[in-house]
Amino acid sequence: MARGRHIVRVKPRELVAEAAEFLLDWTAEELWKAPGQFSKLTSEALFGNSRAIEVEIGSSTGEFLCALAQTAPERNFLGIEVTKRAAIEAANQLVEMNLKNVRILRANFKFLGPLLQPETWDRVYLHFPDPVHKHRDERKRIFDRGFLDQMASVLVKGGAVSVVSDKPDYLAEMLALAEKDARFERTHATRTLEFEPITKSRFQRFWERKGIRPGRFVLRKV
Ligand SMILES: C[S@@+](CC[C@H](N)C(=O)[O-])C[C@H]1O[C@@H](n2cnc3c(N)ncnc32)[C@H](O)[C@@H]1O
Repeated sequence: MARGRHIVRVKPRELVAEAAEFLLDWTAEELWKAPGQFSKLTSEALFGNSRAIEVEIGSSTGEFLCALAQTAPERNFLGIEVTKRAAIEAANQLVEMNLKNVRILRANFKFLGPLLQPETWDRVYLHFPDPVHKHRDERKRIFDRGFLDQMASVLVKGGAVSVVSDKPDYLAEMLALAEKDARFERTHATRTLEFEPITKSRFQRFWERKGIRPGRFVLRKV
């Protein structure tokens, strides 16, 4: 995890054998050269069924995603995580929790555009995206106009994007961009919400131990 990696260390673990079928590992180079050789990111292609799918972008070690998947066995869940160590940890965890409705994709979300299919994702979680401090980090920014274009296409009608951050200014910046976009509306009257998930990620726990409470907003595709 770019910023998270330095803050919240993930111990390297071997992938357990049973986790191999749940972990996809797609390199940026291959995705760039030949995106057509990869599965589309749909329930049909990844799970062989047509259940609603929820996607966490930057799922890290998967605590939030796995807890969510445990509460909704009738839905599918996809975690997209660029860091191999974190993706392995998440895949091992879903085996420990005996979850069959989750896939972890180790890949850079920025290269997955050609694999998104219109009106196929039910919910998207972008929680604690790495903030952009310097100009050279701009290319790492996930939430921008291009992201909103992708969400306007890939989400089903009424589908939602949840955004959480421990940085109030960063959250406000993302929200201001979304509020200018008529394709989305906030699902709540107050500008932001508190975030109390059933299971907190190690990243959220780290900041809350320091007294920092994250904020959240949720957008619905109209
Ligand atoms: C600060 S962590 C937050 C993790 C998790 N969402 C949570 O709630 O704790 C941000 C994560 O996003 C991942 N990430 C950053 N850019 C990414 C990208 N372009 N594609 C996939 N994952 C990315 C990082 O590796 C890191 O694990």
